[in-house]
Amino acid sequence: MTEQKAILHLPGQEAIELPIIKGTAGNDVIDISSLGKAGYFTYDPGFLVTASCESAITYIDGDKGILLHRGYPIAQLAEKSDYLEVCYLLLNGRLPDKNEFDKFHSIVLHHTMIHEQLAKLYQGFRRDSHPMAIMVGVVGALSAFYHDSLDITNVKHREVAAYRLISKMPTLAAMSYKYSNGQPFVYPDNSLSYAGNFLKMMFAVPCEEYKVNPVLERAMDKIFILHADHEQNASTSTVRLAGSSGANPFACIAAGIASLWGPAHGGANEACLVMLEEIASVDRIPEFIARAKDKDDPFRLMGFGHRVYKNHDPRATVMRKTCHEVLNDLQINDPLLDVAMELERIALEDPYFIEKKLYPNVDFYSGIVLQAMGIPRSMFTVIFAIARTVGWVSHWKEMLDQPGQRIGRPRQLYTGAVDLQFDHVDDRCN
Ligand code: SDX
Repeated sequence: MTEQKAILHLPGQEAIELPIIKGTAGNDVIDISSLGKAGYFTYDPGFLVTASCESAITYIDGDKGILLHRGYPIAQLAEKSDYLEVCYLLLNGRLPDKNEFDKFHSIVLHHTMIHEQLAKLYQGFRRDSHPMAIMVGVVGALSAFYHDSLDITNVKHREVAAYRLISKMPTLAAMSYKYSNGQPFVYPDNSLSYAGNFLKMMFAVPCEEYKVNPVLERAMDKIFILHADHEQNASTSTVRLAGSSGANPFACIAAGIASLWGPAHGGANEACLVMLEEIASVDRIPEFIARAKDKDDPFRLMGFGHRVYKNHDPRATVMRKTCHEVLNDLQINDPLLDVAMELERIALEDPYFIEKKLYPNVDFYSGIVLQAMGIPRSMFTVIFAIARTVGWVSHWKEMLDQPGQRIGRPRQLYTGAVDLQFDHVDDRCN
């Protein structure tokens, strides 16, 4: 097929032909790399229409509410797979056969312990530190412990670092929770599933036996699947940009954790529950809907809207179903669920939300499920970070595996001062 081109007519110059590159799905892209020679940059703050890379990991069709991981719909993976199998899929580009999966499963579950010296790092934090603050610190500190997997040009080092990060995130996360409530750290139990191990490290105490609740274990695993990857979101783009400079994988994932913490991104699940509690009852919903529509009010409906989805977030659909399953299984009647469902119903009928195509996203129901599972609110985004680690690592690996990889270095539209003459402070009178 002959290559298509976009023709750009610039003032006082010959027209420029810009190659159009086709993907396997979604928007084609216009290669603008030759624009520099013509003396122009493109301008797209927030990267609303900018493809920063080529990727084969995750595909999102925001208008149709489609999310595919290596070609598989998220609803099928959430219903039929488990998190470690999805990790293998994201990392390797295909589903494993039985032997491959058993080997991967064994590797991950036998790297769950951390260096005892790293446990001492927690003592440097205040007990009331937010667990995300601790995670940014201790994940970055892994760089100081694993010198044998820091050479990013070495494929084996990249693989070992990937396994270590996926294996150790639940351990580090559970320790950040235990540290905050003064309970002793719980060592991983490799006889348990990935999700079961995390729940035990979170809630077991030395003075009594802990049995993993299968309902919570399945819900936790499904929540990990739903948050595993999501194309070039803010935190994944942060990891890619950090990795493009050659920074080691642990430092890159720490940067991703920092970016995820923001309430506009991964912090929305915690912020959404706070919002539902502030609304408190169904009859106060109109007041908050009005605030969300008021241009002079910075209030946003947390858990609503999305940069890419202009239809239902397919993860939110699965999360809502999981929410009902968990609350029914645990016989919990959470009034916040009633508020959430009524808020969703009203918002989806409101012209403002319809016109702006604002739908519930993955964070809208996750907070209610996590609270029902007994997860403390401060740990909601930490759980998002555990799950997203495989996505971050997969994109980091994909970037480094691509030939001709270069440091990411955006340009700017400069609007500051020019051609000023310096004068001595004694001669200045502002
Ligand atoms: C995640 O990128 C990803 O993939 C992220 C994620 C992932 O898995 O990695 O999916 C996870 O981060 C989900 C999003 C979680 N965040 C929230 O729920 C916070 C609340 N949502 C908003 O902050 C907002 O919707 C964003 C940040 C999610 C999207 O912001 P955009 O794309 O920059 O959209 P925008 O802010 O420009 O909004 C467009 C319009 C605006 O009105 P106008 O200026 O055009 O008049 O919609 C309005 C906004 O005011 N709007 C909202 C709203 N979200 C957007 N109005 C009320 N409530 C909201 N939640």
